[in-house]
Amino acid sequence: MAEPNTEQAPQAPQEPMPLKEAGRRLLSYLQPHWKYWAISFLFFTFGAAVEPIIPALFKKLIDSGFQEGLKYPIWIVPVVIIGLFLARGTLNFCGTYTMRYGVTAVVLDMRKDLMRALLRADARLFSQISPGIAVNKIINDPHNSVDVMGSTAISIVKDAMSLIALVGYLLYLNWQLTLISFVSMPLLAVTIKQVQKRLRMVGQAQYESQQRLVNTVDDNARAWRVVRTFDAAAFEQQRFDQEATQYRRWTLKQTTTSALITPMTQVVAAFGVSIIITLAILQASKGASTVGDFVSFVTALLMTISPMRHLTDVAQPIAGSLITARGAFELMDSPAEPDHGTKEMTTSRGELTFERAEVHYEGAPTPALQDFSLHIPAGQTVAFVGASGAGKSTVVSTLLRFAHLKGGRITLDGVDIEDLKLASLRRHFAVVSQDIVLFDGSVAQNVAYAHPSGIDRAKVEQCLRAANLWQHVSTMADGMDTGIGTNGSKLSGGQRQRLAIARALYRDAAVWIFDEATSALDSESEAVVQQSIENLRHSKTLILIAHRLSTIRNADVICVMAEGRIIEQGSHQSLIARNGTYANLVRIQSADGPGEQNPAAADTASSQPAEHPLKKYL
Ligand SMILES: Nc1ncnc2c1ncn2[C@@H]1O[C@H](COP(=O)(O)OP(=O)(O)OP(=O)(O)O)[C@@H](O)[C@H]1O
Ligand SMILES: [Mg+2]
Repeated sequence: MAEPNTEQAPQAPQEPMPLKEAGRRLLSYLQPHWKYWAISFLFFTFGAAVEPIIPALFKKLIDSGFQEGLKYPIWIVPVVIIGLFLARGTLNFCGTYTMRYGVTAVVLDMRKDLMRALLRADARLFSQISPGIAVNKIINDPHNSVDVMGSTAISIVKDAMSLIALVGYLLYLNWQLTLISFVSMPLLAVTIKQVQKRLRMVGQAQYESQQRLVNTVDDNARAWRVVRTFDAAAFEQQRFDQEATQYRRWTLKQTTTSALITPMTQVVAAFGVSIIITLAILQASKGASTVGDFVSFVTALLMTISPMRHLTDVAQPIAGSLITARGAFELMDSPAEPDHGTKEMTTSRGELTFERAEVHYEGAPTPALQDFSLHIPAGQTVAFVGASGAGKSTVVSTLLRFAHLKGGRITLDGVDIEDLKLASLRRHFAVVSQDIVLFDGSVAQNVAYAHPSGIDRAKVEQCLRAANLWQHVSTMADGMDTGIGTNGSKLSGGQRQRLAIARALYRDAAVWIFDEATSALDSESEAVVQQSIENLRHSKTLILIAHRLSTIRNADVICVMAEGRIIEQGSHQSLIARNGTYANLVRIQSADGPGEQNPAAADTASSQPAEHPLKKYL
């Protein structure tokens, strides 16, 4: 039975995923690569352990070198110093490399999962996000999010380790003084918390602004012809400038907020440091500590400033990273096409039955299909005609389960299509849809698209001949191996259509659907393609959709559609005899020859006295 499908459950104004949840999800991606994090953690720990050795050594060198006379060979000094920095550098390098190794692995995992989500997503997603946004979410978001998180994690590990080691050493040197330096900590925490809150808000606004900017660029890259034909470059430039300026504004706000953290923490930290240095000098002047003690303590103390500053700086990248990750996870969570069917169907005869099928698109005021019942026996040729928006393409989308049934059911060979696995259902259809979509590749790759057994060149040629495209392809530089550009941009409209027909012909399916497949063809090409389609008759179930009625005259059954219903059905002869809508359409089209190519003529003929509806705008 038809699922009460997701189409009816508008989920649009969803609560955004809490950042904590985004963090948890991100962690679940980091987890499988824990070995790299652990190893890099070790490297950084050792690297950090070297850190307090430096001031400790200074103390040793200064105390013994300056006060008690040299007790060691002088060459040890440079050797030890260089050695220590070399060790620290090597350890940090290895730590960074291992961490990056993990980061790139996580990015790869996320990208794969995002692509999987995109490939499975329900049709609704594609009316919500543009191709540019999809690209951005899959290519950039994982990198931006995990990379920043990785560098931040490196910084946290490195700096926290250094800080712990340094503070440990400070406590060992002079615990009273060190404890005093902690007094400014609570103040620091409150300051940072406030700034973080603002950072999250600004970060989200910045992310959304970036998406709008991507959309603008995406529009302009896709619709460049329209933009130029309408001489809209200035308009588009202005639209872009506005969005880009907005984005810059948010970026600056975000920078200002995060840049505030450092000076604020430094001023707060300065309180502590000033007290400590004063006290240390006092202690030293009373002879309570050696010059070495003092220098060492102050060196170690000053060395804590850098990691401390870095640690307070992590708020912004973490918030940014989580916001970006959330954007990616939202795509990952977009509902998949409902595929609850369990039945497999390896071969099909191509018998189709619609039983009171009803389709209602989300947000549409009226159903796109209603009370739609039709039986198509295997091997029959059925044509759908009717006004634009009557629901013809919706019949196709529903058959392929791109649009979901709200009521009724559809069967293929007697099996409810909802009970079939999606892949099992769709393999029985070869479709040339109204919007031709081609891939960036060669002619042959497009014809034998995604065929598991590779490209059968002889069959490709056959299909191209049947689609009346071979003549053109054989004159191309590399024949069928010539590239056709993005979405077939190097082909003419009619050639693109014929290539799509060849692609459908290559597929061995039981049901063939041609939705306005020959609308862009010249009469000669159309005749050839028509003949190829004619050759398929009776061996395949054929569904033809056309505005040009001459192309579907020979169909076994012609269904005239209006407002999602079949209002007339029968053969050409019987419909003409009936003298209803179809007969009227045929009359209009044949009245002035290719009437459908000049519908305005038909319109004016039927609405003689009325003035042009657009007159007041002209
Ligand atoms: N994805 C969608 N979301 C919302 N409404 C849609 C969607 N696709 C189609 N519609 C609406 O459903 C109705 C039927 O559309 P359909 O594409 O089936 O018309 P058609 O008969 O194929 O028209 P044409 O001859 O222009 O191709 C139209 O009113 C259209 O606006
Ligand atoms: Mg259509």
